Amino acid sequence: MNADADVETGTGPVPALHDRAVACADRLRAADRVLLASHIDADGLTSAAVASSALERAGVPFETTFEKQLDRAAIERIARSSFDTVLFTDFGSGQLDVITEFDGFTPVIADHHQPADAETEYHLNPLLEGIDGASELSGAGASYVLARALGGEANRDLAGLAVVGAVGDMQDGDGGLSGANEALVAEGVAAGVLSEETDILLYGRQTRPLPKLLEYASEARIPGISNDESGAVSFLTDLDLDLKSGGEWRRWVDLTGDERRTLVNALLRHAISRGVPADRVNALVGTTYVLTDEEPGTELRDVSEFSTLLNATARYERADVGLAVCLGDRGPALDRARHLLRNHRRNLSEGLQWVKTEGVTAEENVQWFDAESRIRETIVGIVAGMAVGSSGVRHDLPIVAFADAGDGEIKVSARGSHALVRRGLDLSAVMREASCAVGGDGGGHDVAAGATIPADARDEFVDHADRIVGEQL
Ligand code: C5P
Ligand code: C5P
Ligand code: ZN
Repeated sequence: MNADADVETGTGPVPALHDRAVACADRLRAADRVLLASHIDADGLTSAAVASSALERAGVPFETTFEKQLDRAAIERIARSSFDTVLFTDFGSGQLDVITEFDGFTPVIADHHQPADAETEYHLNPLLEGIDGASELSGAGASYVLARALGGEANRDLAGLAVVGAVGDMQDGDGGLSGANEALVAEGVAAGVLSEETDILLYGRQTRPLPKLLEYASEARIPGISNDESGAVSFLTDLDLDLKSGGEWRRWVDLTGDERRTLVNALLRHAISRGVPADRVNALVGTTYVLTDEEPGTELRDVSEFSTLLNATARYERADVGLAVCLGDRGPALDRARHLLRNHRRNLSEGLQWVKTEGVTAEENVQWFDAESRIRETIVGIVAGMAVGSSGVRHDLPIVAFADAGDGEIKVSARGSHALVRRGLDLSAVMREASCAVGGDGGGHDVAAGATIPADARDEFVDHADRIVGEQL
């Protein structure tokens, strides 16, 4: 398994990041004891899984910890834990100004968020080399680049997890992954852990019975099928296919290639006949990613279902469960994760229903809702993203969601679209500036960002956000 030769001479999967990755890897090898600190979402968990596998294989002693938010209090906790080196994955860049105030440890950062105005020696971030951190490389991708510098080609099997992280951060926007992420896909395919397929882009190909696959695919918004149980069933029944087995509906994964083609063609025809615009019809088919070592028909086989399973753990204070699944536990941890997934799905659907019923308030340049304690602050951003496109929520305005965070604070999550980003929207700057103005802090990506603000600052925050977005667009 020793690939030292490659470590010395190769340029790694993302050549532009190679020098930074080698510097970070050298620092980690020289450490006495590393604290690996990561973020509590799918990308953060896969980042931690990739990094911890690489550290383990390189013989570097380490411990792992997760933080919901890398705020000053969290950084103080980390500093007190007296590790000589702290590896931050999927966060750290945005908090570099605070991190560099501490001198008890050496920070090593593998992240893809907008960096704060400060510098540090061991900093691996695609944005520093002109690679888009919102769409071309995720935290898990940056961690993978680091893992390759630590262990060479022997670590290519970790590319599958890196792709789960990228898809968890919704980097597969335009029908598949692009940019640096494609190099990671190629490495996963070469290592035999990943396969790339052109397929229908509905969530639940592995696990959902066909009527549910169609009915719940609300993002597709096909009249007479999406959010329409009897419509979905009659669409399937009218096809000349045998879609039940033993009285039960089959799943997408159970269909033959011919059956899938027939179904896709019928679905596209149906969508066109119901007036769905061509760009949305085309978006029904794209590139999907399958983890070839995982059991077909499970939540782990398809990277997008895998990433949802991970969010169902880490966003509910069970990052340990998600990490164990990433590291190969297919027993108790997977059972627990499946249980958490049912709960997560219920919360998402109740949250979405609440937003639909209550509606959003449209300002000039942003629309917003305040779920208070009705939606958990750790998933309010996911709900906000899903709400876009449902009745009453506009496509042409960014959405800002609030939820109670306890301790006299409110969590803010903002989501935009690539079309808005092309017109100048940068939600990371909006969240940073608007939160600063009211005594909070925030950051993230141009298309998705967040903040924490004092509980009484909501309306003032909306005013600032509305004005800043207006200036950007
Ligand atoms: O902290 P991190 O970078 O891992 O989180 C990114 C967040 O942004 C995820 O919750 C992801 O779903 C969201 N996102 C989004 N739409 C995009 C890109 C990212 O909602 N186009
Ligand atoms: O929490 P949410 O999913 O809305 O986060 C969206 C993005 O904003 C993530 O990349 C997250 O890391 C970032 N964020 C941040 N600072 C905050 C809250 C969120 O950088 N205070
Ligand atoms: Zn991320």
